[in-house]
Amino acid sequence: MRALKNILVSGGAGFIGCNFIRFLFSKKDFSGRIINLDALSYAGNMANLSDIETQFGGDRYFFEHGNICDRPFVERVFKEYDIDTVVHFAAESHVDRSILGPQAFIETNVVGTWTLLDSARCAWKNTDNSLREDVLFHHISTDEVYGSLTETGYFTEKTPYDPRSPYSASKASSDHFALAYYHTYGLPVTLSNCSNNYGPYQFPEKLVPLMILNMIDGKRLPVYGDGKNIRDWLYVEDHNAAVWLIMEKGKAGDTYNIGGENEWENIKLLYTLIDIVADKIKADPQKIKNTITFVQDRLGHDRRYAIDCSKIKNNLGWKRTVNFKEGLERTVEWYCANHPWIENIRTGEYQRWIEKNYSQRSKK
Ligand code: NAD
Ligand code: DAU
Repeated sequence: MRALKNILVSGGAGFIGCNFIRFLFSKKDFSGRIINLDALSYAGNMANLSDIETQFGGDRYFFEHGNICDRPFVERVFKEYDIDTVVHFAAESHVDRSILGPQAFIETNVVGTWTLLDSARCAWKNTDNSLREDVLFHHISTDEVYGSLTETGYFTEKTPYDPRSPYSASKASSDHFALAYYHTYGLPVTLSNCSNNYGPYQFPEKLVPLMILNMIDGKRLPVYGDGKNIRDWLYVEDHNAAVWLIMEKGKAGDTYNIGGENEWENIKLLYTLIDIVADKIKADPQKIKNTITFVQDRLGHDRRYAIDCSKIKNNLGWKRTVNFKEGLERTVEWYCANHPWIENIRTGEYQRWIEKNYSQRSKK
């Protein structure tokens, strides 16, 4: 088992990254330090970890505001904290945005990933140019790199890459760079490709939180195309437990698929979610169902994703622990209980951290 001590988490202020940091600090056997490096794009939110900052800040938790494409900044972070482990979540993550404007996806997902990989390679060189052995770069990726399935079959780790959106093309490119650094330079890299996550702190542009908030607000529920596209849903904590297992025990150079074995047509997911929300807010489910609106389909909308995750189950002993209904209930509960978090996103207040923080620093 690897001893992971000074862990650089890129994108730790986003949805999965902040849940990962929470997960690590909740583990009794974790005693390392976490350095959260995040540019605070529209998807990054300092409020996601304010309690962690209060409890562990300056001791075992550190926040470094900056861009993974900024090489001198990244190099400084590696040196200052003696980083021995990277878990790389930072990305532009929303497919619809990648269709509207692919450039940021190429910059962050491709150039940014390469910058992190190359900075790690340089920071982890011994004086004789060999690489340290007590280090690890874990790259977080997506099932979308495999393309789209018809009604049958599953993505395995051997499925050829066939990305079809600018987002998945940029993630596929970053995956290739990560493995190229393993094969070419011997950088200890592990990689995971996960299916759709849901849970607390997800930015309300993604299907599950967008629909929950629209239901609460009585707004229409926009369903793309015929609503029969299929995704494989996994509660974010189960994803993060899998990531940690790979980091501790995964084989360098290997890829692990992570999935919920939980396929849902979007429209059926929506019906289930409506029942849960209606029950929670004491509303008539039929009234909410009447707000479903079929809208123009996403360009190049992948029809079906489904993951075969037998490798991580058999080799590392991972299994999903949260069933879908329970996970959705917890998620609905969280969005209903965190009104200020939602309001700060609606008003844009959450993005004022940078402005406030830097003006305070310049006053000192
Ligand atoms: P997110 O959009 O919620 O968060 C991304 C984070 O990265 C934000 O905090 C943002 O500020 C930060 N970031 C963006 N550009 C940056 C840059 N140039 N430099 C530094 N930080 C930057 O994303 P998420 O949903 O938490 O996804 C995290 C990772 O998991 C991504 O790599 C994504 O491709 C992958 N993934 C996501 C899902 C999913 O369902 N959400 C599923 C599989 C894989
Ligand atoms: O599969 C893993 C991927 O899952 C991750 O790599 C991505 O980062 C993450 O965003 C997610 O991508 P999707 O495109 O599958 O997620 P999204 O929530 O955007 O959409 C889920 C499905 O719901 C998809 O078929 C499109 C549909 N949809 C989405 C939205 C936002 C709608 O019908 N209406 C909507 O308003």
